[in-house]
Amino acid sequence: MIKQKILSAYEEMAEKYNALIEHKPHNAYYDRPNTLELITNVKGASILDAACGPGKYAELLLAQGANVTGFDMSPKMIQLARQRNNERGTFFVHDLSNPFDMLNNESFDTVLCALALHYVEDWTLTIKEFYRVLKPNGTLVISIEHPFFEFNYFKSTKYFEVEAVKCTWSGFGKPIEVNSFRRPLSGCLLPLAENGFYIDKLVEPKPTKEFEHLDPKHFKELNDFPAFMCIRAVRRS
Ligand SMILES: C[S@@+](CC[C@H](N)C(=O)[O-])C[C@H]1O[C@@H](n2cnc3c(N)ncnc32)[C@H](O)[C@@H]1O
Repeated sequence: MIKQKILSAYEEMAEKYNALIEHKPHNAYYDRPNTLELITNVKGASILDAACGPGKYAELLLAQGANVTGFDMSPKMIQLARQRNNERGTFFVHDLSNPFDMLNNESFDTVLCALALHYVEDWTLTIKEFYRVLKPNGTLVISIEHPFFEFNYFKSTKYFEVEAVKCTWSGFGKPIEVNSFRRPLSGCLLPLAENGFYIDKLVEPKPTKEFEHLDPKHFKELNDFPAFMCIRAVRRS
């Protein structure tokens, strides 16, 4: 089953992922700065970090005075998130595609979900749960692989379908197969619009200066074509 393969891959690379994302260009100098810029009024805010990985986003948000709750389906990632954040924040194991029964209605100012929704085949339940736990006018901030990038990268010939795809990552220790789901642009935006959100901001990010020094080839490529897309959506009241 694809979900089991995704879980095994993250369990296997958790330690390396935790160590490397500190300065790995695509995370530190592409995804995080562009996604964090979409989260405003962090001090004192209640933030859910859904699919939090090893808690790097949580660390940065806690440092700015947010109250952070995070979950991830990988127990190793959750252990690393707890270690990284030294008893600050609340972290638990949970799957994005199951109801968030442990979280109350209208309890978060912001839900963040960075680089994880492409592991979920059907977004409907997840987006409905994001809506339920957000306060009225609360913000959902997501980063995903750009649908046009994925269409090219996976050499798809079926743009309109949600397709199971896989590739091999070599940047986190020994090469590892990573499974995910690609979908069209409408497949990224309609689940938000149809489940109580309006899109406030959509960013096709550019890498920061630090990226250029570490990985000039991808710096140039990302300045010519985006690999990720960041969205801020607002929960209608
Ligand atoms: C690329 S990492 C991103 C981690 C973190 N959001 C960050 O940006 O640093 C993807 C994370 O999604 C988690 N994940 C994948 N599928 C999930 C699911 N169905 N439910 C919860 N977490 C999931 C993985 O375990 C992994 O930690």
